[in-house]
Amino acid sequence: MRATILSMPDPAEFALNTEHTTTRKWFGQTAGGEDVYLYKLENMQGVEVEISNYGATIVSLRVPDRTGRVDDVILGYDNLSGYLSEKNQYLGATVGRYANRIAGGRFALNGKTYQVPNNDGPNALHGGKKGFDKRLWSVEQSAPIAAREIILRYFSEDGEEGFPGNLEVRVSFRLTDQNELRIEYLATTDKDTVLNLTNHAYFNLAGEGSGDILQHQLTLLASSFTPVDESLIPTGELRDVANTPFDFRHGTAVGIHIDDGEQLQRAGGYDHNLVLDHGGGKLALAARVTEPSSGRVLEVLTTEPGVQFYSGNFLDGSTTGKSGKSYDFRSGFSLETQHFPDSPNQPAFPSTVLKPDQRFQSMTVYRFSTK
Ligand code: GLA
Repeated sequence: MRATILSMPDPAEFALNTEHTTTRKWFGQTAGGEDVYLYKLENMQGVEVEISNYGATIVSLRVPDRTGRVDDVILGYDNLSGYLSEKNQYLGATVGRYANRIAGGRFALNGKTYQVPNNDGPNALHGGKKGFDKRLWSVEQSAPIAAREIILRYFSEDGEEGFPGNLEVRVSFRLTDQNELRIEYLATTDKDTVLNLTNHAYFNLAGEGSGDILQHQLTLLASSFTPVDESLIPTGELRDVANTPFDFRHGTAVGIHIDDGEQLQRAGGYDHNLVLDHGGGKLALAARVTEPSSGRVLEVLTTEPGVQFYSGNFLDGSTTGKSGKSYDFRSGFSLETQHFPDSPNQPAFPSTVLKPDQRFQSMTVYRFSTK
């Protein structure tokens, strides 16, 4: 059953369910005067995650290190105004209708050309000027049996940001006792459209605000990547990672080759789509990241065929995060599980077209452990 939150702003936390700790607190108001909330899910291992219905955003994620010390490993703001600010670079947000870039913001579908706003130089990025990350999602409180789950819904109207079709999107976040945050996306449309959904969490496994992420050891189960042109649009080539700085198959520190060669210079570091060996369609391991000082390990599993590895190259110290420290160059990384960038214009890439008789379903899991 769908429950709309009608209560007045209440800064005090209160339990929605006493047996399974899911709490809600008021987070602020949008410019339009809508109340925004933070929902906290906690598991039996002391892991806590906070999700906001603004942008279906992961605001914090506290996980233990190898000594049991708990730190927040997600970049974010301690108040809503941080998220509303122009400087917010999709921190923790759910991104759509089309995550990543569409060349020239233009694509053809069934013989008709669609133009969506170009908000990244000559291209469209992350759904346009007001993508899903800047929308208020409605919240469905799940049944007690799965109280460590929050379900958010968004209805994207036909024509919103130039995309065709009324689209109903549902995202659920579920915290398990195996220290996994399971994110499931479902969507349906009433007209053919294009869809690419991801979460834009920035991680720093040593704790947000603790410096750059260059020492993190990254393994990516990907034997090729999609090289990009000057405006970061894939050229269409699938290039073997062997003997390139994109070879993370055996675990390599992020910083070692981060400035090597034309591809990395174009993007100011890693900001590239890796083609996952598992091919997508079933939930399988895509990446593993280990942070040596804390011993924290993040594994990313997904049903998506690709992952954008972004090394936080546009973070420039101009915003201050939850810890009161500024988010400097490369102080967080994202692993945006997704279909490949610009797929609507790349017939050889896996299709991102969603038709009315289909149901879009996708899952990504962030699993934490220590080493
Ligand atoms: C994605 C893009 C980057 C950048 C970030 C957010 O990772 O590929 O170029 O836009 O989002 O700033």
